[in-house]
Amino acid sequence: MRKQIVAGNWKMNTTPEQGIELVKEIMKNIGHACTSVNYIVCPPYTHLSEVAKITCGTAIQVGAQNCAEEAKGAYTGEVSAEMIASLGVHYVILGHSERRQYYGETSATLNKRMRQAYANGLVPIYCVGETLEERESGKLWDVVKAQIEEVIFELTADEFRHAIIAYEPVWAIGTGKVASADQAQEMHAFIRKTLAVKFKDAATQTPILYGGSVKPDNAKEIFAKEDVDGGLIGGASLKAEDFMGIGKGFN
Ligand code: PGA
Repeated sequence: MRKQIVAGNWKMNTTPEQGIELVKEIMKNIGHACTSVNYIVCPPYTHLSEVAKITCGTAIQVGAQNCAEEAKGAYTGEVSAEMIASLGVHYVILGHSERRQYYGETSATLNKRMRQAYANGLVPIYCVGETLEERESGKLWDVVKAQIEEVIFELTADEFRHAIIAYEPVWAIGTGKVASADQAQEMHAFIRKTLAVKFKDAATQTPILYGGSVKPDNAKEIFAKEDVDGGLIGGASLKAEDFMGIGKGFN
């Protein structure tokens, strides 16, 4: 039985005050939620500490949206995995397409971030996904396979057991265009098969989340698919009601 996960990627949204309000609202609702679902919120760095404190001991877990490549030192503006972990934060999103697209993240930089995450006990939520052009030209399988092989295949078997993968087709992020449940399933099954080449049976246990315009009204159909174990939610994670509504998609 794989973990069911609904993770909220707040991106560069909410002031600390708004973020705290949002997480309090989520906490109020969690009592009525399905207990088998793991909820993770990923606020900006500025309120990670406060959100981690407020949620400590509750069913909500906290993740960062990135971590530095290096352990410490003269890297102005960076935040290390050690700093993040010291706040009681357990997860870190790595390889989000916005990081790849706007900040030049590559497999090489992501491997370094992965090293830092594992060295500090953070669980990576590693994002993969193709652009519209790559999908339309039929390159989607090669693109996603390379994103997995170049980074996830560098992990040890023991590290891999903790990893979470998120499939986020770039064309579906923030666009309102959601992949059909069948398109999601097709790619999730492909990802699991790819993972199994190196990690064998352990791949059957890896949570693979779908991300890209997930809303309360489409979550149920997507989550019903065999290889979809939850969602990484952007826009809809900024409203407690929608975020919790997506969790109900598992029922
Ligand atoms: P979206 O973003 O739900 O707003 O499409 C998903 C993500 O980028 O993680």
